[in-house]
Amino acid sequence: MSPPTITDTVAGVTSAAWNGPAIVVEGLTKSFGDVHALRGVDFEVPRGTVLGVLGPNGAGKTTAVRVLTTLLQPDGGKALVEGRDVVHQPDAVRAIIGLAGQSAAIQEELTGRENLEIIGRLYHLPKAAARTRAAELLERFNLTDAADRPAKTFSGGMQRRLDLASSLVARPAVLFLDEPTTGLDPRSRIGMWEVIRDLVSTGTTLLLTTQYLDEADELADQIIVIDHGRVIAGGTAEELKDMVGGDVVEFIVPDDDRLDDAAQAVAGLSDAAPSVDRGAGQIAVRVGGKGSSAVIQAVRQLDAAGIVTDGLTLRRPSLDDVFLSLTGHSAEDGDALPANRHPRSTDHVA
Ligand SMILES: Nc1ncnc2c1ncn2[C@@H]1O[C@H](COP(=O)(O)OP(=O)(O)O)[C@@H](O)[C@H]1O
Ligand SMILES: [Mg+2]
Repeated sequence: MSPPTITDTVAGVTSAAWNGPAIVVEGLTKSFGDVHALRGVDFEVPRGTVLGVLGPNGAGKTTAVRVLTTLLQPDGGKALVEGRDVVHQPDAVRAIIGLAGQSAAIQEELTGRENLEIIGRLYHLPKAAARTRAAELLERFNLTDAADRPAKTFSGGMQRRLDLASSLVARPAVLFLDEPTTGLDPRSRIGMWEVIRDLVSTGTTLLLTTQYLDEADELADQIIVIDHGRVIAGGTAEELKDMVGGDVVEFIVPDDDRLDDAAQAVAGLSDAAPSVDRGAGQIAVRVGGKGSSAVIQAVRQLDAAGIVTDGLTLRRPSLDDVFLSLTGHSAEDGDALPANRHPRSTDHVA
């Protein structure tokens, strides 16, 4: 990439007075051969807020992040970060962003502390300042005890935290996190959420990609849903959940012959017809915000009809539900989801 130029410097001065949104994306397109990864994406992220970019594997999330972080040239459209154009002012953009990616930038042979100090040096911090910053970040991400062990001995959650810490060495105004919790066990995932919430409370603008509605719900002010390179919906988590009718009561009917009876028994729980998955012997009913009272009602009705069920659960809406309701197909119809995808949040009832 080009070294900093006078234009960049001038743009930097202009951008310092930038009053617009932290991120502006207009008509962004990018193809890889016949694969149209981005087909005209538009969105804005107000400064100091969190945008959750929600979509299944292959939706175009990483491509968008790579364009916004200047790692990839778009084919068309425009993207500005704090008023700086990612194509024409890549150095000015890089100076103000942080990126923690799906593929960690951690050097495994080095200790956690060494990893952070080296990054500080790469950002031209004096040696003492790099050391102080590394210690601060290790503390903040609860890595102090492990700081002097090689990073390869870190658990998955610790490596993610180190990766995130490394993206913060330069105190970025705008931070990009590409699926920060994919592959993490549930406890590390919640730990990561805490770390991210803490960061956001300091005023950092954050763009976060995820495959999980509950994660976007936890962390994002606004969510956009992308599918095959297009934004197919946007709003707050509440708005998206309302769109899909809220909670879902779900259960298996081991006896195939009773599947239709079971669907009929629970039909009164919702205005929408229960969905029946014959292959899996599973029934799902959308019950809005009725949650646990709907579960009790379902158990009663099924019992009254003499139907045996297995694993009756109350499920909060997932990305799959959003997809089904927006596109009529499940998120899994496209590319395969990773084998290590998270279980959904469920309240086990039976
Ligand atoms: N470097 C590349 N070369 C060819 N195809 C790519 C490349 N990067 C991404 N793709 C394709 O672009 C689409 C979007 O990918 P990606 O942005 O990685 O999606 P996501 O991050 O949402 O899983 C996918 O079909 C993917 O296979
Ligand atoms: Mg990705």
